[in-house]
Amino acid sequence: MTESETMRLPDSFLVGASTAAHQIEGDNTTSDWWMFEQTRPERLQPSGRACDSLHRWEEDMDLVAAAGLNAYRFSVEWARIEPEPGAFSPAAIDHYRRMVAGAHERGIEPIVTLHHFTNPLWFQVGGGWLRDDATDLFGRYLEKVAPVLDEGVRTAVSINEPNMIAVMHRVISGEVDLTKGLGGGMPLPDPAVTDALIRVHDAAHEQLRAQHPDLAVGWSVANQNVQSVPGGEEAAAACSEAIEDVFLRAAIGDDFIAVQSYSRVVYGPDGIVEPAPEVPRTSNGWEYRPEALGEAVRHTAAIVPGVPILVTENGISTRDDAQRIAYTTGALRSLRACMDDGIDVRSYLHWSLLDNYEWGQWEPTFGLVAVDRDTFVRTPKPSLEWLGAVARSRELP
Ligand code: BGC
Repeated sequence: MTESETMRLPDSFLVGASTAAHQIEGDNTTSDWWMFEQTRPERLQPSGRACDSLHRWEEDMDLVAAAGLNAYRFSVEWARIEPEPGAFSPAAIDHYRRMVAGAHERGIEPIVTLHHFTNPLWFQVGGGWLRDDATDLFGRYLEKVAPVLDEGVRTAVSINEPNMIAVMHRVISGEVDLTKGLGGGMPLPDPAVTDALIRVHDAAHEQLRAQHPDLAVGWSVANQNVQSVPGGEEAAAACSEAIEDVFLRAAIGDDFIAVQSYSRVVYGPDGIVEPAPEVPRTSNGWEYRPEALGEAVRHTAAIVPGVPILVTENGISTRDDAQRIAYTTGALRSLRACMDDGIDVRSYLHWSLLDNYEWGQWEPTFGLVAVDRDTFVRTPKPSLEWLGAVARSRELP
């Protein structure tokens, strides 16, 4: 194979952008996160009207299409579809059905996430994922979402970052206080929530397979990219197993595993090793590490060999868009090296399309598009056009 052949992306490769309902839609008042925001104002800024994408989704998709991106990942909000137990909103279902149709009309492949962090408030109040009937309730919701998926969705993510949900469970319950720093190690997922989510995902996959035989189903894992320096090997392996690998292995038999990578975690003999002062950090304090994506993909492929990989999130919080382009160039190069080594990677979806609500904060800016918080006017950044050029040329830089 010549070098130019190896650089070219397969025709079916998806290059696009990702979002999530609660982070962009606005007024998600029947969700648990809305309640957290109202009751913990000292910790969490309110999402409010977010980016008003509930009303501006067509404008968002126009931006995706105009740039030349060929895929858009968005999530369907359970709390809107089932605001009260058993009371489903035909209007909300129709809204998401129209979004799928809107993506197709614009020549964009819709990748639909069925659960992205938020629960209906009633589900959370009743015990959340630890309820005895969690699997049945999620299954009942999936049945109602069928018209959305039947609009021609080919790829669905059952649950976004179950590993982070299982970690957040411990934060929400007060068992872990993130404001006190990480101390010796990463906060690990709650084991009971881990088991519950794997059960729900397995059942969801089976149900979706029966409901929509042509739908590819998987879930997305927050790849922590746990590494070690001498003396930290054991702690790193234990952390990786609990926070990531168990969730990756749950994808064995799935149609794909979705990788979501931003940086890395390094363990030494005394726990987490902070990056050296000269190592650049992103605007939200993470180590600047573009090659993390390739590292995460290689780790995933080693844990679940043969399962096709979709990259459904990768990006950087920065106020400097040139840095975003540089970071993404490095990330894509590391991805290309994985593909050159024979790893079956089928998409690169950038996080995020919009500067959005970052789970309690508005300061981090991950977007390819800036959004005015008062007027909701969208202003594409150069990185949007740049990523669109990658999608159009079908060449990784
Ligand atoms: C989540 C997104 C989040 C992003 C950046 C991922 O953990 O899926 O919802 O905004 O990382 O923090």
